Amino acid sequence: MHHFYYKDSELYVEDVPLRSLVERYGTPLYVYSAQTIIDHYKRFDRSLQDIDHFICYAVKANSNQRILKLLVELGSGFDLVSGGELYRVLRAGADPQKCTFAGVGKTQSEIEEALQAGIYSFIVESEEELLEIDKIAAKRSTKAPVAFRLNPGVSALTHAKITTGTDLNKFGISLDLIDEVFEKCSRLENIYCRGLQMHIGSQIQSINPFLEAIQKVIPWVEKAKKKYGAEFFDIGGGIGIVYEKAMESGTEAWWQERNELLTLNRYAEEIVPLVKPLGMKILVEPGRVLVGNAGVLVSRVIYVKKGIAKKFVIIDAAMNDLVRPAFYEAYHQIVPLKETAHGPLEVVDVVGPVCESSDCFAIDRLLPEVKAGDYLALLSAGAYGFSMASNYNSRLKPAEVLVWGKQVQLVRKRESYQDLVALEEQLS
Ligand code: LLP
Repeated sequence: MHHFYYKDSELYVEDVPLRSLVERYGTPLYVYSAQTIIDHYKRFDRSLQDIDHFICYAVKANSNQRILKLLVELGSGFDLVSGGELYRVLRAGADPQKCTFAGVGKTQSEIEEALQAGIYSFIVESEEELLEIDKIAAKRSTKAPVAFRLNPGVSALTHAKITTGTDLNKFGISLDLIDEVFEKCSRLENIYCRGLQMHIGSQIQSINPFLEAIQKVIPWVEKAKKKYGAEFFDIGGGIGIVYEKAMESGTEAWWQERNELLTLNRYAEEIVPLVKPLGMKILVEPGRVLVGNAGVLVSRVIYVKKGIAKKFVIIDAAMNDLVRPAFYEAYHQIVPLKETAHGPLEVVDVVGPVCESSDCFAIDRLLPEVKAGDYLALLSAGAYGFSMASNYNSRLKPAEVLVWGKQVQLVRKRESYQDLVALEEQLS
């Protein structure tokens, strides 16, 4: 579900034609729909209502402060993986008691900052880290809440680069080692075991890997509860979204006809009966499924270049703005702002201006014929879009706009050339 649709052949986001946004803010431009995020959050929250739970939005998916604030207002907690993310959520008004801090390489200063803020729990990924947290907590004469991230050794059936729950991945503690770590933890004075966590990967499109992983770790969750007084089980994020038919997937009716797809409701229906008997607080860490289809990247066609073997549509967005296609061969549906339902179609490569052959958004894609000056929207760009953007080729990071009904808010300005060099030594 989302709020991008065509009306009178114009692409709209909620009550606003995207054309008016590019005229006002230029391109490339990230455009987000607040109502889509709100709908997804509420739907997920409602579907978990039978269990004591809270949602920790995975900040890495999209960390714009205005979006974080929207989620704070909805009651969300946050899954953090850096001091920078902690800084952002605190500025957005988050309740630290609804924040967890994961990641395999927390530094001393990040651990101190999180203790200072009073987060709900660290998600500990190794024994080495556990000892470090204990040491820092001792210095501060406090007891740090920790949860162990279990690595269940389950394939998430997704892209290798976003699989996290196997023995070959750096994440979490293998089930073969966890008993030892529990033991060690119980002997440390400045740590207490508040819970257990797992997260097996991202863009997971079937329920089975989740079920398999949860079933595998439940015996340890029970043990942690009984023996060490753990109060929560965090089942991570990873729910996939629709990329290929993103435009079509805006309506409820479309989803109802496709009950093979993993929806938030289906996820909850299958998961809740498994975790409810634990009688613990259940945390979830969704990122992509809350914000992914709530954002698009709008770009202008600079040239249409005819080569010998290919036709290239060269647009003003590039891999520095949205790296997913270059990085993961990810598919993003591309649609024109002006719908040309009956116009000619052609097979093209859609590419950006960056000096890398991997700066390519689509290869041999069938698209309506476009010309220089036309606008295209790359869909499902709300998650891991701007948050992975860079200044490669000294390109300016794009602006971001949040739309809610008729309301339009510029939530991040386009960078300037001055911004590019602001932190470097000033030469004159
Ligand atoms: N929790 C933990 C511990 C995570 O590492 C992640 C994502 C999430 C939650 C949220 O996962 P989600 O619900 O968004 O799938 N850049 C990649 C995705 C990397 C995901 C990293 N971890 C992409 O663009 O596909």
